[in-house]
Amino acid sequence: MEFVDTHCHLNDEKFSEDIAEVFERAKNCGVEKIINFGANLKDSAEAVELAKNFSGLFAGVGFHPEDIADFDENSCEKIFELAKEKKVVAIGEIGLDYYWEKNPEIRQLQQKIFVRQLDIARQLNLPVCIHEREAHGDALKILKSDGKNLRGVMHCFSGSLEMAREVWKMGWLIGVDGPLTFKNSAKLPEIVKAAPREMILIETDAPYLAPVPHRGKRNEPSYVIEIAKKVAEIRGETLDEVAEYTTQNAKNLYQI
Ligand code: NI
Repeated sequence: MEFVDTHCHLNDEKFSEDIAEVFERAKNCGVEKIINFGANLKDSAEAVELAKNFSGLFAGVGFHPEDIADFDENSCEKIFELAKEKKVVAIGEIGLDYYWEKNPEIRQLQQKIFVRQLDIARQLNLPVCIHEREAHGDALKILKSDGKNLRGVMHCFSGSLEMAREVWKMGWLIGVDGPLTFKNSAKLPEIVKAAPREMILIETDAPYLAPVPHRGKRNEPSYVIEIAKKVAEIRGETLDEVAEYTTQNAKNLYQI
């Protein structure tokens, strides 16, 4: 069985001591490919560098909506240049976060920076990984107006089933993480059950959001299998089947 962890943050200092072992464990579990996302310029550059050291590791570059303090006129150009590097397979994670950001002016700035990065993805023909929290309406609006001819994933999906259906209709996927395994997973199981096979990705978002039975500990790519197991249980499929179609979806979207 082969798995892909389609979203994590391995440049986090929580991995500074044992990154090689983390990769080893992932490989031993069949997690053959991993996509590591940057959240700002420095982080994105580090993700690109790290990808050079490990086969099977790829990078996404961009400004996370909670990390736009250093965004300036040159930032887009720099992201553009980084995105042309060999193992960069996506623009991300980019998007909107209204959970942490309550200031309407900064929310507007998030929107502007989000749209500018969608442009970079379009120019380079790269898929997009979107972070969206409590900004469902604006995110959909922007994807409809500025996301044309783009493909991508709503990572760590937190919307309703109705929203998921709209996302799928636009040809975008949803990413499912550790919260699916939590007792209070709310509407996620229902969404996972309704998802067409080709519209779902599994991801860890490591070091955050470790799935049960590792909840509360540092998350890592090998744990993506716990999410696959839960998907299989909810959908009445075998782990083999889930591994096969989620891996295929990741390969199709990110061309890895
Ligand atoms: Ni993330």
